[in-house]
Amino acid sequence: MNNLLKGKRGIITGALDKNSIAWKIAEKAHEQGATFVLTNAPIAMRMGEINELAEKTGSQIIPADATNTEDLENLYIKAQEILGGKIDFVLHSIGMSVNIRKKIPYVDSNYDYFMKGVDVSALSLHKMLSIAKHLDAISEGGSVVALTYMAAQRTYPFYTDMADIKAMLESIARSFGYHYGVEKKVRINTVSQSPTKTTAGTGIKGFNDFYDYADAIAPLGNADAESCADYCITLFSDLTRMVTMQNLFHDGGYSSTGVSAKVMDMLYPEQE
Ligand code: NAI
Repeated sequence: MNNLLKGKRGIITGALDKNSIAWKIAEKAHEQGATFVLTNAPIAMRMGEINELAEKTGSQIIPADATNTEDLENLYIKAQEILGGKIDFVLHSIGMSVNIRKKIPYVDSNYDYFMKGVDVSALSLHKMLSIAKHLDAISEGGSVVALTYMAAQRTYPFYTDMADIKAMLESIARSFGYHYGVEKKVRINTVSQSPTKTTAGTGIKGFNDFYDYADAIAPLGNADAESCADYCITLFSDLTRMVTMQNLFHDGGYSSTGVSAKVMDMLYPEQE
């Protein structure tokens, strides 16, 4: 226990069940001395196990649909009341594509579903930041982290519309990071995480095969949810106080590796 987040107040979105990346981040933030509120879409909370996490971490839950600006306003107001001051860190861990859920190929994307995906998974970050700024709810030097995936830079055919949506999410982090940085020194970064076995992750067609491929490429192997949580804790801490507007790869070296000997051996085993 290093108490890296001692005295800090946070808002953690997206903890659906024990596999959720946000679940691990909440556990680690608690271990490091933070106090925070948990939030998720009302419907997800009915299905999820969030009460168990709340109990374990001594947190309260504030339901909020991340597409709904009134819900988000209420979230910041209530979170400050409960925690007793401005918010020091915010985790955006929200992703959903109806096109992926319905297994619709990218080239045949349904545009209503596409727009829904944009609203839930990318614009929600803008809304969370804009409302926080209007309410002046985030403290000076506060840190906002959103989770993303490398399909924003390189094509992964099965990732369909979420690739475009993640590109937008990363762009919002940069653009807002400028404005919020100039005014309040609030920092905004995205963490580009390895494939991880969660509800959102495994909902993607071919996920398991791809998971193994990425694991065979990355020199360190796939980064798991727990190590992602550790990384996010450093970003919420003051140790990274000058890091902002970055897309930070947390992927065991996958994004810098063209091909690995392991994958070559799988393709051409006879050439040893
Ligand atoms: P998850 O399914 O546990 O979390 C997704 C969360 O989004 C759920 O808690 C869900 O209730 C919430 N959500 C959906 N619609 C919402 C709405 N309208 N309002 C508020 N919350 C809403 O899955 P995971 O993997 O932990 O996902 C978290 C983030 O990590 C997502 O942004 C995802 O794209 C990202 N990510 C996941 C990877 C993976 O392989 N699992 C890899 C890279 C990034």
